[in-house]
Amino acid sequence: MRAPAIQVRGLKKSYAHKVVLDDVSFEVERGQIFALLGENGAGKTTTVRILSTLIQADRGTASIDGCDVTLESDRVRQIISLTGQYAAVDELLTGKENLHLMGGLLHLDRQTVRRRATELLTLFDLTDAAGKIVKTYSGGMRRKLDIAISLLGSPKVIFLDEPTTGLDPRSRASMWEMIRQLAREGVTIFLTTQYLEEADQLADKIAVLAEGRIVAEGTAEQLKAVIGEERLELHFHNSADGRRAATLLHLPMEGDGLQLSLPAGGTTDSLRSALNMLHEHDIVPATVNYRKPTLDDVFMALTGNTEKEVRHYA
Ligand SMILES: Nc1ncnc2c1ncn2[C@@H]1O[C@H](COP(=O)(O)OP(=O)(O)O)[C@@H](O)[C@H]1O
Ligand SMILES: [Mg+2]
Repeated sequence: MRAPAIQVRGLKKSYAHKVVLDDVSFEVERGQIFALLGENGAGKTTTVRILSTLIQADRGTASIDGCDVTLESDRVRQIISLTGQYAAVDELLTGKENLHLMGGLLHLDRQTVRRRATELLTLFDLTDAAGKIVKTYSGGMRRKLDIAISLLGSPKVIFLDEPTTGLDPRSRASMWEMIRQLAREGVTIFLTTQYLEEADQLADKIAVLAEGRIVAEGTAEQLKAVIGEERLELHFHNSADGRRAATLLHLPMEGDGLQLSLPAGGTTDSLRSALNMLHEHDIVPATVNYRKPTLDDVFMALTGNTEKEVRHYA
């Protein structure tokens, strides 16, 4: 039987007297996109650094493709890639030149480098920018080039530590598409994120890290079953409107009879027809809010804590 792409058992890591990882265990299957979801300071980067052999855990074991990260760290380094692993790209070189430079450092033959560079520039939608110096790139383009460079050696497992933090929505969407494309090529992807939506969009499996432990693990669907779906919340001016709307939409009344909430996970068609229905009956909601579950909701659902108490995880 082949080993899982990543296997982690009982990891512990403390700095001075601060326990960062208390007892972390999980497995990632080959070819999966795995998301480690946690707030700022939860220990995501610490986990990535242990798995990518940059630091050692105090206790527990971790292996990549069956190779122990401590005992076989050289082997592990050949299998993985870590964004930002190499000093930042050279600003005064073009994107293509940066790729060729790294190819040389990795001792890849020139033909392989040329082929991989072309493939990666296409994959990352950087073909047009390939001949321009990196200084002229946007933040999103730079990050894509950084990842492209880390992929030159055709790694089996890729670590992406908060790949979209700080990116604008457009760059984020294109980064997501690129990550999906990588996964389609059969690479195992370990990504960390603070955004529930990102994990939901990308991951085959999500593990939630809080207080040094994995507090929940499963598919996005399984997590949503715990925390609830995206919803459209309607507030009405008076309870008569509220009651009529509830009857029309076949929904139970919530709270003080002034509020309704309908699942918004599906298509916009269902939302539009619901709003049209109200309009036809001259019911005008006082407010319409779109509510997406957040990481706070995950913690609340899992721990029953209020938002304030949850903050203390950070
Ligand atoms: N080298 C270090 N020395 C001391 N404390 C550290 C060190 N690295 C991380 N920490 C602490 O460990 C906790 C987790 O950090 P980190 O793994 O970077 O979290 P995340 O990536 O989820 O934001 C934080 O409280 C951070 O301050
Ligand atoms: Mg981090």
